[in-house]
Amino acid sequence: MKVLSSPEDIYAQLDFARRHGKRIGLVPTMGALHDGHLSLVREAKRECEIAVTTVFVNPSQFGPNEDFAKYPRTLDSDLEKLASVGCDFVFVPSKDHMYPLGHSTFVEPPAVAANWEGKIRPGHFRGVTTIVLKLFNMLPAQVAYFGRKDYQQVAVISAMVRDLNVPILVQSCETIREPDGLAMSSRNRYLSATERVRALGLWHALSQAQSMIDDGQRSVSRIESAMNEVLEKAPVDSIDYAAIVDPDTMEQRSDLDSPAVAIIAVRVGTTRLIDNSLLQVQ
Ligand code: PAF
Repeated sequence: MKVLSSPEDIYAQLDFARRHGKRIGLVPTMGALHDGHLSLVREAKRECEIAVTTVFVNPSQFGPNEDFAKYPRTLDSDLEKLASVGCDFVFVPSKDHMYPLGHSTFVEPPAVAANWEGKIRPGHFRGVTTIVLKLFNMLPAQVAYFGRKDYQQVAVISAMVRDLNVPILVQSCETIREPDGLAMSSRNRYLSATERVRALGLWHALSQAQSMIDDGQRSVSRIESAMNEVLEKAPVDSIDYAAIVDPDTMEQRSDLDSPAVAIIAVRVGTTRLIDNSLLQVQ
């Protein structure tokens, strides 16, 4: 496994491989890797000859009161984990590589970024679209892998790729969960033991939504109220949203006549957690 920090070096290596007919799979991350990230690298390895992972905590996607400074930075163990799943290249750029002096160009996020995370975390998706497009330009991969836990992020990146004709395939991969249902997240490590138990409210609320649908409930507002009740009982400390939305546009749904996804964002202690589930409506 080669670990590189210079954009020129990684580009040269991947460009060479691509010219020799190799398919390259890219897994962008901010490090603090868990099994969810590793499943993306495994998927890249299954589908491509070369898997490249990036590790960069991107300052421009954090708001002024968010956790950029305390975001976990665990490069040594990240590299061990990446080597264990057969990652071929790791790109670990510095802030100056990604945002050189005078950097002032940003990507305006697509419409699907307007609500939910986009509303609650102003500027977040502008930072995400900018860094991801930069990574796509620096690393000439054919496929990029993202976890569905960040459902809106995948929708935003897919729309950007479509709208700006970026020659890469965006592959969204299933959320990896702990045995009790908690979605894996780098931020789970902030949770105390009791908060960890309360955080299960997200999974229980999503499961409640699905079981109501299985029992024939079709009222979106009743299902959303039930999700909120489950979260309040957990209890989580605050609920940013618990909603049922269109899987493509992320607009609030008023019925379940076509595919829908349940999305949740809450705070447990000081930790903000998000999760979602595609609803199965017979
Ligand atoms: O999902 C993440 O870890 C980040 O938002 C990403 C896509 C690596 C961009 O910094």
